Amino acid sequence: MADLTTKYLGLTLRNPIVVASSGLTNSVDDIVELDKNGAGAVVLKSIFEEQILLEAAHSLKKAQKDGMIYAEYSETLDYIDEHIKEKELGSYLDLIREVKSKVMIPVIASVNCISAREWTTFARQIENAGADALELNIFVMPFNFDANSIEKEQVYYDIVNKVKELVSIPVSIKISPYFANLGRVITRLEEHGADGVVMFNRFASPDIDINALKVTSAEVLSHPFEIANSLRWVAIMAKHLKMDIAASTGIHDGEAVIKQLLAGATVTQMASAIYKNGPDHIVTVLKFVNDWMEKHGYNYIDQFRGKLSQGKMEHPEVYERMQFMRYFSEIK
Ligand SMILES: Cc1cc2nc3c(=O)[nH]c(=O)nc-3n(C[C@H](O)[C@H](O)[C@H](O)COP(=O)(O)O)c2cc1C
Repeated sequence: MADLTTKYLGLTLRNPIVVASSGLTNSVDDIVELDKNGAGAVVLKSIFEEQILLEAAHSLKKAQKDGMIYAEYSETLDYIDEHIKEKELGSYLDLIREVKSKVMIPVIASVNCISAREWTTFARQIENAGADALELNIFVMPFNFDANSIEKEQVYYDIVNKVKELVSIPVSIKISPYFANLGRVITRLEEHGADGVVMFNRFASPDIDINALKVTSAEVLSHPFEIANSLRWVAIMAKHLKMDIAASTGIHDGEAVIKQLLAGATVTQMASAIYKNGPDHIVTVLKFVNDWMEKHGYNYIDQFRGKLSQGKMEHPEVYERMQFMRYFSEIK
């Protein structure tokens, strides 16, 4: 048997298959099942900044009623959506505690956030509840066309600074590929203290039903071909980063896991493939990785990790080729 042990965010994982933040990681029973099937680690379903602010606002209202002076904080109510339920923070912390008491694998909590505001104090409670690390899913939709990209990117660095100040567990940042200067943003996240980067989040997208003339939702689950963009950027960024890289999006089987490790990923995150095939898909993926390593004479992952990253390539430009001239000339 090959040794699949992997270090991610300073934690020791028995293998590089991390179950991505999703509905798969929202209950103790489901996580126990993922653990039984061999997951290397799990990222819990995200709690949203707005949920945290909602409960904070609820406490503030009570504080105001009790004659305490916190009125200025009520601006946080701007964020609150009527569908967001209260009392979820306590449940989230309970989930962390209970999962930690039931499984040995690392448990990474997740917050979906858009600012470095008051929600950040909750990060400390997440740490105290026993989470091994914290993944921050940050995406600020660039609706405000008046702000320039530097201002928009600053939000990401402010969040990293603030959260790293508050917690001592490792913090990884889950980002989208949609930045004017993606590579620089990622290197700056590291400069600001991020311990890892998750490349990339995949968004819920709109679609249009041309018969019903309605806006609908595009497919929730990914397809294997969607790995391409993450693979390119993992390969490009590997030589520029000391922090860990978690590859995400379109990783559906053992072959995809090996591709991402060869590109330089520290771990691979998987959601859609487990939704489609069930938790025992992890067993199949692990067997494939093990068999491939044995076939190629690798005893452990660091022997081949990053072997096909851009920094190690004789022709590094293969990862930079974006236009179609060559393909057009080859396709008759
Ligand atoms: C049903 C569903 C729920 C998700 N919920 C979250 C979430 O709460 N937080 C988060 O960071 N990502 C969430 N994601 C995104 C996944 O973590 C992952 O980044 C994305 O699905 C791409 O990986 P995949 O191709 O393996 O599915 C969700 C994905 C799905 C399909």
